[in-house]
Amino acid sequence: MTLRLSLIAGALLGLSSSVANALQTCGQAQYDPAQYVCWFDNFLCPVIAGEGLSYCGGACYSKFQYTCNGNVLNVLPTLPAGTPFTLTVSNPTLTINGQLVSASGQHWGLGGPTSSYCPSQVGSSCPQGNITAIYAGNGGAAMDVIVPGGQLVYLRPDWNVGYTQAHSAYIPPGSLTTGFAAYEGGGFVNLNGNGWGWVACPPTASGGGGGVWNLVAKNSTNAASLNLCTAINLKVNTLPQGTVGAWQYT
Ligand SMILES: *[C@@H]1O[C@H](CO)[C@@H](O)[C@H](O)[C@H]1NC(C)=O
Ligand SMILES: *[C@@H]1O[C@H](CO)[C@@H](O)[C@H](O)[C@H]1NC(C)=O
Repeated sequence: MTLRLSLIAGALLGLSSSVANALQTCGQAQYDPAQYVCWFDNFLCPVIAGEGLSYCGGACYSKFQYTCNGNVLNVLPTLPAGTPFTLTVSNPTLTINGQLVSASGQHWGLGGPTSSYCPSQVGSSCPQGNITAIYAGNGGAAMDVIVPGGQLVYLRPDWNVGYTQAHSAYIPPGSLTTGFAAYEGGGFVNLNGNGWGWVACPPTASGGGGGVWNLVAKNSTNAASLNLCTAINLKVNTLPQGTVGAWQYT
């Protein structure tokens, strides 16, 4: 009897010293505020990408993809096809929170400079080309450019985001060109890979980020190899209709 009690006491001590954050109370439950958020003093929702999920009539949801109307969860409307937008990193726990997705080297990075080009004969009609603008539609996405043929966005075989070179339709075999959704007032979501979401990988761990934080789409097979990366959402910021990002992104 004494032995059992001391074992239990030991187990409890072990537990309390392994919990880094002071627990808080939500209804009958104790929770770690780094991992959960408490709604209406009663419901726990997990923290994903540095933010507690929202609550709607018994379900936890991401405001980047859903909206709650009278306790009913609805998927946000997708942006009308062709609406230009930029994307910003959303994870309040990261230093790159709020920074723009940037196109450079046929690849999307997080927070770095945008690389673009405009032929000199286009002259003063060249767009600024210093922000990375995108549009989406029919499950696909493209860079917001003038160059004839456009520049298609795709998930590369390494599940980084790439885009076609101007004047070329070449896409590496094994790439995915569909399965993206841009939600109005929400996020840019990768629907490939069963909802593992986006991660931000610090420059040293990115392997291909070109010195800036790198964007990778997580899935069941690459999840373990991305353990140095942090979950993020990509927030959609719509631009006025007709805004052109660049002549072409390089
Ligand atoms: C793009 O260039 C314009 C004009 O030089 C400048 O006002 C603007 O701040 C720049 N935007 C970014 C994101 O660098
Ligand atoms: C997940 O991504 C990796 C690249 O990081 C890719 O090789 C693999 O095929 C993907 N897995 C699935 C199930 O699509």
